Amino acid sequence: MRILVTGGTGYIGSHTVVELQQGGFEVVIIDDLSNSYAGVVDNIEKITGVRPGFERIDLSCEEKVMDFFLRNNGISGVIHFAAFKAVGESVEQPLKYYRNNLLSLINVLKGMEMHGISPIVFSSSCTVYGQPDMLPVTENSPLKKAWSPYGHTKQVSEEIIANTASVTQINSILLRYFNPIGAHDSALIGELPIGIPNNLVPFITQTAIGKRECLSVFGNDYNTPDGTAVRDYIHVVDLAKAHVTAISRLMKSENRQKVEIFNIGTGNGFSVLEVIQSFERISGQKLNYRFAPRRPGDIEKVWADTALANHVLGWKTEKNLDDMMASAWKWEKSIRGKYE
Ligand code: UD1
Repeated sequence: MRILVTGGTGYIGSHTVVELQQGGFEVVIIDDLSNSYAGVVDNIEKITGVRPGFERIDLSCEEKVMDFFLRNNGISGVIHFAAFKAVGESVEQPLKYYRNNLLSLINVLKGMEMHGISPIVFSSSCTVYGQPDMLPVTENSPLKKAWSPYGHTKQVSEEIIANTASVTQINSILLRYFNPIGAHDSALIGELPIGIPNNLVPFITQTAIGKRECLSVFGNDYNTPDGTAVRDYIHVVDLAKAHVTAISRLMKSENRQKVEIFNIGTGNGFSVLEVIQSFERISGQKLNYRFAPRRPGDIEKVWADTALANHVLGWKTEKNLDDMMASAWKWEKSIRGKYE
């Protein structure tokens, strides 16, 4: 059971490789290291005792992807993470996002089709829902027009997979993640933002450790209990386990449709201030923050209806917000002074 994990040295990819190996799967990673480090492979090996295969390939290059599939005929499933994910950058450089995110997926699907490989788990996002009319958001909620090229690549990718699955041997599970945070308990792998973090939790931990002066809380006039925006934060290890469950389901042909879609969150919404309070509780230190204007494009609130993932996929989260923040803090302290 050899699984190709594209983007396997990235944040969610690396945690998933660990869970796959610990679940008895053999893994080969493809990553171009455009937003991650080769040393992640060493750290995965330190955690699991097994070194995953690794090839540095730009998946948007069709020739290289076809060559990879020709040389690796033992692959029985694919988990496709490789993509650019910075929302703001995608607005500045849309072609970079469409080119990379869509071509990579197209090439992977073509390789799978040619070599008769069926299962693919795809990393989608709750961003496809925009600001939903009803909360919690179910998988049947209508998709809203994407406000960023990044979000649009996720919507189009879902359609590319569905169209391809309908006429090929390919079967797919699309996982729509909510907000992944936290790090592995070992503090050997975690999120490594390059430059100034866009996301809330790395910004909190970098502020606490002294790398940033002050966290700006974007907006305190939202229609939420404390006025700050609400998200469904999920521990990256819980999220990684959802991928193992999903690929196993496809490999055992337990899926009921060619393409199945699951929300992957905790089902609980927390405000920015609640996340800060959790951080202060687990770290025992006060965080320097101030209120700032709303960030353009941010939605007010979203959290998942996870009934389908819980009942059909048979997966549920195990970690709470304090676990997430404690692991993120442990990770930030462990990388102090490294990766500068
Ligand atoms: C968004 C997308 C998510 C995508 C991710 C990629 C939605 C609902 N989510 O996450 O699918 O994968 O971008 O980057 O579209 N915040 C601050 N100060 C900061 C940073 C963030 O107050 O310095 C606030 C934001 O305004 C937001 C919350 O923290 O309310 C979470 O922000 P962030 O971590 O950036 O994630 P999303 O924008 O929710």
